[in-house]
Amino acid sequence: MKLSCTVNGEEVQADVPPRLLLSDFIRHELRLTGTNVGCEMGVCGACTVIVDGEPVRSCLMFAVQADQRSISTVESLDQNGKLGPLQQAFHENHALQCGFCTPGMLMTLASLAAQGTLPKTEHEVREVLSGNICRCTGYQNIVDAVLKVAS
Ligand code: FES
Ligand code: FES
Repeated sequence: MKLSCTVNGEEVQADVPPRLLLSDFIRHELRLTGTNVGCEMGVCGACTVIVDGEPVRSCLMFAVQADQRSISTVESLDQNGKLGPLQQAFHENHALQCGFCTPGMLMTLASLAAQGTLPKTEHEVREVLSGNICRCTGYQNIVDAVLKVAS
């Protein structure tokens, strides 16, 4: 099927199998490997990207469902070769260990940042990131990083 969409501000046209997952399209066809795939069943949040402003689990969406839509991946957070504010805060607060969950966390947060609704309390941070599982950090440094950006 024909697919026409925007990815990180660039127009993309492709011919894809109807059952190709958006996550696989992003990773294997576009070679944007910042988007990670963990569970492939909508649980871990590692594959989160932004579609038309909303965070979406790209393992639960077919690539063809992105037709005529705008997609942002973690690569879009780069600011002329430098880390964006969320990335910098994660870096400074040691908010990652293996980093596998980090792109998904960042994209969930980036969608909120774009709407000016980053969480401002620890409880709110934990609530908004409840769909992004981290097996390494214990979350506290992630919470600290988000609160720093929000303030
Ligand atoms: Fe998509 Fe886990 S890989 S939610
Ligand atoms: Fe390893 Fe979160 S840093 S899963």
